[in-house]
Amino acid sequence: MKILIACYSYTGNTLKVAEEFQKITDADLTRIDPVKNGFYLLKIWGALREHRAEINPCQTDIMDYDSLVVCCPVWAGKTPAGINQYLDDLKNIKGRKFGVFVTMKGSGNQKAAQQIRENLTEGGMEFLGQMIVTEADLKSGKYKEMVEFFAKKFQD
Ligand SMILES: Cc1cc2nc3c(=O)[nH]c(=O)nc-3n(C[C@H](O)[C@H](O)[C@H](O)COP(=O)(O)O)c2cc1C
Repeated sequence: MKILIACYSYTGNTLKVAEEFQKITDADLTRIDPVKNGFYLLKIWGALREHRAEINPCQTDIMDYDSLVVCCPVWAGKTPAGINQYLDDLKNIKGRKFGVFVTMKGSGNQKAAQQIRENLTEGGMEFLGQMIVTEADLKSGKYKEMVEFFAKKFQD
């Protein structure tokens, strides 16, 4: 299965998990990179209000892929504005498969994974699995096992 990972990572946590997934699955990775990095409160506001933020060019056409993994940090319980923009920009998603994972500080409530899932399902994609990785999972190394389990869902 040819997989594209679309990763937004502000401080490196999500990227670390994405690279572990990439190691196991040999997926391609595209970085979602907002043109401007607003200050903390703007990030929170943008996430809460489900805003869009302009992003630098990256792989948005998934015609050549069987599946897509979208990953990002949780901000204010929701998806960062750059991810919302990426989801809007995606092309040729219908009929393809997807997974989602988010990283977050604690293990509290978050809607980010659900937002991504709903968006891509509405676009006609088939959901394969999701993963919520906390900073404690990253610190203890548990995330490696989690990624291994998650990656199995993407095997043909
Ligand atoms: C603006 C902002 C808002 C955040 N909001 C939350 C939150 O609501 N819940 C949470 O558990 N962690 C929150 N965090 C922590 C990040 O989700 C967590 O550190 C994540 O792993 C960072 O991923 P990254 O290094 O890929 O950017 C927030 C961090 C930032 C910068």
